[in-house]
Amino acid sequence: MLGGGIPEKHVVGVIGSYGTGKTTLGLQFIHAGLQNGESCVIISLDEDEESVIENAASIGIDLKRYGERIQIFRLEAVELRKSLEKIESDIPEIIKSMKARRLVIDPISVLETLYDDAGRFRMLSTLRRILKSAGITALIVSEADKDNPTSSKYGLLEYICDGVICLKVVRKDELDEPTLGIEVVKMRRVNHSRKPKPYAITDKGIVVYEEAEIF
Ligand SMILES: Nc1ncnc2c1ncn2[C@@H]1O[C@H](COP(=O)(O)OP(=O)(O)OP(=O)(O)O)[C@@H](O)[C@H]1O
Ligand SMILES: [Mg+2]
Repeated sequence: MLGGGIPEKHVVGVIGSYGTGKTTLGLQFIHAGLQNGESCVIISLDEDEESVIENAASIGIDLKRYGERIQIFRLEAVELRKSLEKIESDIPEIIKSMKARRLVIDPISVLETLYDDAGRFRMLSTLRRILKSAGITALIVSEADKDNPTSSKYGLLEYICDGVICLKVVRKDELDEPTLGIEVVKMRRVNHSRKPKPYAITDKGIVVYEEAEIF
């Protein structure tokens, strides 16, 4: 769907409603980096380190075997907001000292909730600037808007990202079994398909059925 993958150093938003597999996708992205010999960072705003490790184990990813190459930080949104300046210096430092190549922030919505619109945009722009100058490939996970599954909760993230991948629950009729659909909404510098494709969450993580149609 991406014609080869996410370009290096892109900052990409992953948008989806609860339980659509955002965290799973983030873990698979990190795992691919680890398997490639890269160092990776996970910043979790909702789960502690142990539970991130357990989530990974449930889809067959043993994060512990990668030792120092994977760093997991559990951050409290309130703390993060209070010390955004500290974060501005900490994140580049961590990335630099680890020579990290991939980073996941999951979910940004928890932090976005603490700002008004103007503050939220400033925070996201700052985050983009930090990630861009660190030259890291990043996934920023966000809850979807409850009325528009291709939009993030506050409708701002998609503007500061180089790419947006959307995970959606689709139903033909209200009482039908839901189908999961993945869509590349934008990806700068990539001639990507815009057609949503069905996917499933399995015990090996997300599997996209590229040859299939949603209905
Ligand atoms: N082994 C599995 N087989 C099938 N489905 C699974 C499996 N493991 C998890 N799931 C499904 O994936 C969902 C969780 O995926 P994940 O945590 O990645 O979603 P999320 O979008 O991050 O959710 P949240 O909004 O709660 O953070 C579960 O609710 C379940 O429906
Ligand atoms: Mg999650």
